[in-house]
Amino acid sequence: MRPEKNRLTAKTLDGAQIAATIKDELKQEILRLKSCGVTPGLAAVLVGRNPASEIYVRNKVKACEALGLYSEKIELAASTSSAELLDVIRQLNARDTIDGILVQLPLPPQIDVKKVLLAVDPLKDVDGFHPVNVGNMVSGRPGMVPCTPAGIIQILERSQVPIAGCRAVVIGRSDTVGKPLALLLLHRNATITICHSRTRDLPSVAREADILVAAIGKPALVTGDFIKPGAVVIDVGINRLTQPEEVRAVFHDVDSALAQLRAKGSVLVGDVQPEDVREQAGAYTPVPGGVGPLTIAMLMVNTVRAARERRGTALHP
Ligand code: GUN
Repeated sequence: MRPEKNRLTAKTLDGAQIAATIKDELKQEILRLKSCGVTPGLAAVLVGRNPASEIYVRNKVKACEALGLYSEKIELAASTSSAELLDVIRQLNARDTIDGILVQLPLPPQIDVKKVLLAVDPLKDVDGFHPVNVGNMVSGRPGMVPCTPAGIIQILERSQVPIAGCRAVVIGRSDTVGKPLALLLLHRNATITICHSRTRDLPSVAREADILVAAIGKPALVTGDFIKPGAVVIDVGINRLTQPEEVRAVFHDVDSALAQLRAKGSVLVGDVQPEDVREQAGAYTPVPGGVGPLTIAMLMVNTVRAARERRGTALHP
């Protein structure tokens, strides 16, 4: 039996609302570009049939349609070779109607991911994964910034969470989220710690954080003992639980989580235990409806920006 806990007090950081505001702000710029004869265009390349990737790409294409951007979904067989994928990318690099190229990750194991990311024209690299854009970001130069980290900064800044001087702990060292986010926080004068699977006494390191980011892809790894009371907790994880024993291992209110599993066939949970974070944090991003919508909003921002910048000064306001 768990001891009686405090009231639920944490503020929800509404990512869906912030993403809607960003997309709304972008509409003016899209209209301006269209009046100059330019419709920004995104190509999303999906290799194989990873169900999560299929949903992500579908949502990215839908977001383009809602904003009046041109989009193309390119679906390739799971058996596609590196050479075949490189050929598709070269063709997209050469097309003037395509401003942004996104190769959905993960890729099947036979594909050389580093070669593929290197092949994307840095000016069309709306994911910010090309080494030129990575280097620009490390050295604080302008360039494409990866969508999820950029979106997390938007959540923090638009929610007036102070960053300068704070202790930020990022759990997860991926090239797509953990590393770039740590740099963005550092550039805003946070004191950063990056944690990973070999970090000793993870809960006590995490408890030092004013801003705690969980981006490791492990359901509800971050429990109450990781969270300094009042900290801001950003949950990047999206884990789909389909088995009753997984649900029992994660939730305190097992009955209502199991009822959700029965009704929907699965239960979504982030990398943060959702009941603990409500009791312990000052503010937090929910799953779903937290970081996820920002990833897509920032992809739209990067695509519009690529359309403008690829054409040099011709389209500057
Ligand atoms: N897979 C998970 N996140 C991302 C992302 O931001 N971009 C791409 N291309 N693939 C992903």
